[in-house]
Amino acid sequence: MKLVTKLGLGLAVTSFIVFIGCSQAQPTYSEESLGLRKVDLYTENTVMPEETKYNKASPSSSKTIARAFQDAPPMIPHDTEGMLPITVNNNQCVSCHAPEVAPSLGALPYPKSHMINFRPDTHLAKDGKIVKNGKEIDNTSSEKLEYVTIKNINKLSGARFNCSQCHAPQSEGELVGNTFQPDFTNKDGMKKSSWTGSKLTEGLDTLME
Ligand code: HEC
Ligand code: HEC
Repeated sequence: MKLVTKLGLGLAVTSFIVFIGCSQAQPTYSEESLGLRKVDLYTENTVMPEETKYNKASPSSSKTIARAFQDAPPMIPHDTEGMLPITVNNNQCVSCHAPEVAPSLGALPYPKSHMINFRPDTHLAKDGKIVKNGKEIDNTSSEKLEYVTIKNINKLSGARFNCSQCHAPQSEGELVGNTFQPDFTNKDGMKKSSWTGSKLTEGLDTLME
């Protein structure tokens, strides 16, 4: 489109909006229609939050919850009574989800990504520059992911030890409706991770190569 035509169109649209704006009364909003509590601001302290209702079914008798999107960390479907907080000496999650035991218990083992070190070997050079994987670099947050390391360590990575940092139980009830429709890139993406360990963006189409 030529610039002149674009300008003309812009002007026409602006004057149309100004015209509409002047010819209609300003819309008003009641306090009750704002926010999630749906009461006026002076009585909002009377609002009771919805009760938190985590699933009480014990492991092996719960039903897994569909993943929110491809390779989302799955929600914990079973009771976690007595398992949290996870401490250095007490991580019951591992005792059931470690690959050696999980299949016999009917649980999914923690996936390959949890047994990988993604952190590049990083140190400061004498000249103060940051060295990642033996290479001096200027930009530590490159979007090309060239400094991400994929190093197989064949055991649970320390970065994954605190399971509840990423996996949470799911309470029943809905505060806010959710209309998000996931578009799984893998056929069984609703109940299984897809990353197999060769390429960071494997199975995802949210990152450009
Ligand atoms: C006694 C064994 C046991 C323990 C302890 C345990 N789990 Fe589980 N977990 C299971 C089983 C079995 C399932 C499969 C669902 C079922 O059968 O109840 C499961 C399912 C899950 C899932 C869902 C996976 C999917 O496919 O969607 C997640 C996430 C999970 N557990 C995380 C945890 C975390 C985090 C902890 C520690 C707080 C933990 N589990 C402790 C046995 C266990
Ligand atoms: C830093 C975040 C993080 C931590 C910590 C973490 N997970 Fe995960 N977990 C994820 C993500 C993200 C996925 C899905 C993508 C993938 O496979 O990596 C996942 C997937 C899983 C799955 C499903 C595997 C499958 O094949 O579908 C299980 C089971 C699981 N984690 C268990 C655990 C347990 C047990 C721990 C603690 C020992 C743990 N996770 C710690 C982020 C985490």
